[in-house]
Amino acid sequence: HRLLVERLPDSQVMVVSNREPYIHNRSSEGIVLQNPASGLVAALEPIMRACGGVWIAHGSGSADRDTVDRHDRLQVPPVDPAYTLRRVWLSEEEQTGYYYGLANEGLWPLCHIAFVRPTFREADWLQYCKVNERFAETVVQEATRDDPIVLVQDYHFALLPRMIRDRLPKATIITFWHIPWPNAETFSICPWRNAIIEGLLGSTILGFHTQLHCNNFLEAADRFMESRVDREHMSVTYRGHEVLVRPYPISIEWPPAALANQAPVASCRASVQRQFGLSSDVRIAVGIERFDYTKGILDRLKAVDDLLTRHPEWSGRFVFIQAAAPTRSKLGAYSALQEEAETLVNWINAKHGTRDFAPIRLVIRHHEPDEVFELFRAADMCVVSSLHDGMNLVAKEFVAARDDEQGVLILSTFAGASRELSEALLVNPYDTHGMADALQTALQMPSPEQRNRMRLMRELIRERNVYRWAAQMLLDASHIRQRQRIGSAE
Ligand code: F6P
Repeated sequence: HRLLVERLPDSQVMVVSNREPYIHNRSSEGIVLQNPASGLVAALEPIMRACGGVWIAHGSGSADRDTVDRHDRLQVPPVDPAYTLRRVWLSEEEQTGYYYGLANEGLWPLCHIAFVRPTFREADWLQYCKVNERFAETVVQEATRDDPIVLVQDYHFALLPRMIRDRLPKATIITFWHIPWPNAETFSICPWRNAIIEGLLGSTILGFHTQLHCNNFLEAADRFMESRVDREHMSVTYRGHEVLVRPYPISIEWPPAALANQAPVASCRASVQRQFGLSSDVRIAVGIERFDYTKGILDRLKAVDDLLTRHPEWSGRFVFIQAAAPTRSKLGAYSALQEEAETLVNWINAKHGTRDFAPIRLVIRHHEPDEVFELFRAADMCVVSSLHDGMNLVAKEFVAARDDEQGVLILSTFAGASRELSEALLVNPYDTHGMADALQTALQMPSPEQRNRMRLMRELIRERNVYRWAAQMLLDASHIRQRQRIGSAE
C-alpha cells in the first residue's frame, strides 16, 4: 500500500472500466448503492481508495435511468470519499452492441474455452468502436496533465489504448486483460483481430494473469501484425512504439474489508444453518459467483449427484449452497444456463432429497460482500470449478475469509488461481467422477491437514495481495517513465 502511494508522486491516476464500483439502484427505500459481483471491481477498488484519482465507468444502475437523479461525477466511497467516479452514459443501442454484443457474445466466448460459439456482428463492432471513442474523449476531459497514468481494464476496451495514445502521446497506459487470451489460431477467427491487437499495442504495458496468456498474445502479434516481437524481453515494437507484455497475477486486498464486519466462524455457521434450516451435523459446501457458463456450475452440480449416488451415506448430511448472481441475463446463453441449472437442481433434489431436505440450494440473487463472507466462513468447503477463468478471485476470497485456517478449497486447474494455490484440491471440472472424489476427500480431510493447506495459501495471498499486483505494474511503468524522461533530456 505504502509502496503504491510512493510510486505515484505528482501523477494523476485514472482507471477506465465498463463496470462501475458503486451501482445506484432504486428501491422502496430510495436509492441504494450496490457493489457489483466483479473480480475487477474487487481488485481495483482498494487501490483507488489508497491512491485517489478518477475512475471512469459506465453508469448502469436502475436509479440512473431517470436523468433527473443521476450524477456525472461523484466522490466515493460515499461514507469516506477517496476518489472521483466519473460516469459515461450509454444509450440502449450502444449498450446492446458494445457490451452485450461484441464484448459478451463475441470476445467473451472467443477468449474462454467453454465451447460456446462466439457471435460476431458488424453492427456490434461499430458500437464497440464508438463507445471506445467516447471513453477516450472522457479520459481527455478528465486529464489534468498531459502524462496521466491510465489503467485501462479489460476486453471492453481493446481499442482504447491506441485512441488514448493518439490523443495524449505522453500518457502511461497500463492495460490489463482480465480474461484469458486464447492461442493465435483461436483468436484469428475474430474478423477484427488486427484492429484489436493494434488497439492494445497502444499501451505502455499490457498485462495478463499468466505467462501462457502473455505467450499467446506475443504469438498473435507476431503472426498477424507487422511488428517486432522480443520473446526474451517480452515486448512488441509496433510502428516504433514498444509495449511490454507481462504477467501480473491479480489478487485481493489483505485483509479484505468484508472480514472486518464478520462474526466468529461458529456464529457464521449458526446463522447459515438458521437461514437454510440445517441441523448442525449437515456438512456445507458452497459455490458463489456470477451465473456464467464459464464457471462450471452445472458440472459441479453433476459432481454432487455423483457423490450422493456413490456415497449415499451423505444423503441428508451434505448440502451444496450455490449462490449465483444474475448476470448478462438478456443473452440467450445466460438465460439457457439458468433454466438448465434449475432443471438439474430439481432433478438432483428429487433423486437424493426428501420432503424435508434438499441437498442443493440454489439462490439466484445478488449477495453483498458481507453475506458472501458469512457463507465462506460457514462452509466446510468452497468449490470453484471454472471451465476456464483468467484468475478467479472467489478462490482467493474464500481463503482470505478463513482466519480460523479451516475449510477446503476445490479448484479447477483451468482457473489462473490454480497456478498459485497448489494446496487446493485441484480438479478437472469436465471429469464428474474426479470432482465427486474431490468432494469426498474434502469431506474426510482431517482438521490438521486443512490447517496446513489453508495456512500456506493464506501466506501466499497475504504476500501477493492486490497492492502488490498494482505496485508491480506501477513500478514497471515508473521505470519506463524515468527512462523516457532521461531520453528526452539527452
Ligand atoms: O473479470 C471478468 C469480468 O468480465 C470483469 O470485467 C467484470 O467486471 C466481471 O467479469 C463481471 O462481468 P460484468 O461486468 O459483465 O457483470
